[in-house]
Amino acid sequence: MTQPVPNPVPSPVPNLVFVLNGPNLGRLGSREPDVYGSTTYAGLVEACRKTGAELGYEVEVRETNDEAEMVRWLHEAADGKIPVIINPAAFTHYSYAMRDAAAQRTAPLIEVHISNPHAREQFRHTSVISAIASGTIAGFGVNSYLLALHALAGL
Ligand code: DQA
Repeated sequence: MTQPVPNPVPSPVPNLVFVLNGPNLGRLGSREPDVYGSTTYAGLVEACRKTGAELGYEVEVRETNDEAEMVRWLHEAADGKIPVIINPAAFTHYSYAMRDAAAQRTAPLIEVHISNPHAREQFRHTSVISAIASGTIAGFGVNSYLLALHALAGL
């Protein structure tokens, strides 16, 4: 007889929020500062944690250059019912694996971008994740993340 599959265990940390970043975002500060600004990745992490704490969230910020790792983190968020703020970076424009992983979650998911992809090259105008996101915030520099935390708090 097959064993029943246990229900996923919800996050043990109350009010945990994941802020997930895709490729090259760990290089913020030195990466094309004319496009992405001068705030470093460490500065972004600190700002997210600070704003999150003000709103009563425990914010965990992660960054990866690896599509498979991003998929695993989205499974973790889905199983734990953990809200996600995600800047998928270049994955935005082509990663169906990431999109399908994100579609499994039931908690809110907010897509963010530092720049406004619609004001840039044509290939950036497509987002494969927007259609399954709760909403998208783009074009406000690293403040896009902080606006997303406020949006999450208002949902
Ligand atoms: C980005 C926009 C993407 O087009 C790009 O590939 C990134 C960053 C942004 O935050 O503006 O890496 O997601």
